[in-house]
Amino acid sequence: MSEQIIYSKDGAVASIRLNRPEKKNAITVAMYDAMVNALADAAASKEVRAVGIFGGEAFTAGNDLGDFLAAGGFDANHPVIRFLHAINAFEKPLIAGVRGPAVGIGTTLLMHCDAVVAGTTARFSLPFTKLGLVPEAASSVLFPLIAGRMRASWYLLSGAQFGAQQALEMGLVTRVTEDADVDGAVAMMCGELAELPPNSIVTTKKLLKTRFSNLIDAAMNEELHAFAAALQSDEARAAFMKFLSRS
Ligand code: COA
Repeated sequence: MSEQIIYSKDGAVASIRLNRPEKKNAITVAMYDAMVNALADAAASKEVRAVGIFGGEAFTAGNDLGDFLAAGGFDANHPVIRFLHAINAFEKPLIAGVRGPAVGIGTTLLMHCDAVVAGTTARFSLPFTKLGLVPEAASSVLFPLIAGRMRASWYLLSGAQFGAQQALEMGLVTRVTEDADVDGAVAMMCGELAELPPNSIVTTKKLLKTRFSNLIDAAMNEELHAFAAALQSDEARAAFMKFLSRS
């Protein structure tokens, strides 16, 4: 079986690539574990100064719904929660490249990145309410900060999809390119940051985030409890079964 998370290093730039194209890069518990390990390696590495996060023609369809149901035990030790804490605590620059669908955590993880490049096919969505769920990844705080409260409310309440240009206008995306140029743009931006004095980069990132860290931690915690409760609800079970039993 090919690796579903490909972690590699090229000089000062590390890459984390989701590689499960047949399932639109839906993320399993094992994939979250692999990404936690990759982030830990990149954090500890003296050489690595920036990390790119890549998908494929689909960035990701979000949590693998079948795997998510089967894994059970949704608490602070769940791999998705450990991944969210790892990405939130990551001190070096993180830059994501998005093509195609970025569903659920595929959009909320971007809110923890330092720059996002979107291809023209990028489609973002936060379908939590459609699944009987609630926001995660501190998106209930980060999305209003990034996009403004009204836009965050609309997209988190409705689960409506939005495109690359809209994401650029609302500040969720830094740059829009042709799909073919997304990965190259991410690599180039990572390379640019990797050439700058590393302590200055890490301290600047820390200063940018420090004022919000209590808010983010509190939001993650409250969301975790609400999400765990919602996951047990009839609303969520019905929505998950509907997706999993479609023909
Ligand atoms: N969990 C599990 N499997 C998923 C998945 C998910 N989140 N998203 C896609 N897949 C699987 C499909 O079941 C399908 O598998 P199959 O070929 O064995 O039938 C395969 O990936 C391709 O998906 P498909 O829906 O045919 O592709 P598409 O291009 O028509 O649509 C999406 C892509 C992402 C829009 C659509 O798959 C989708 O809406 N997925 C669910 C997204 C979601 O609700 N995520 C959870 C957020 S918390």
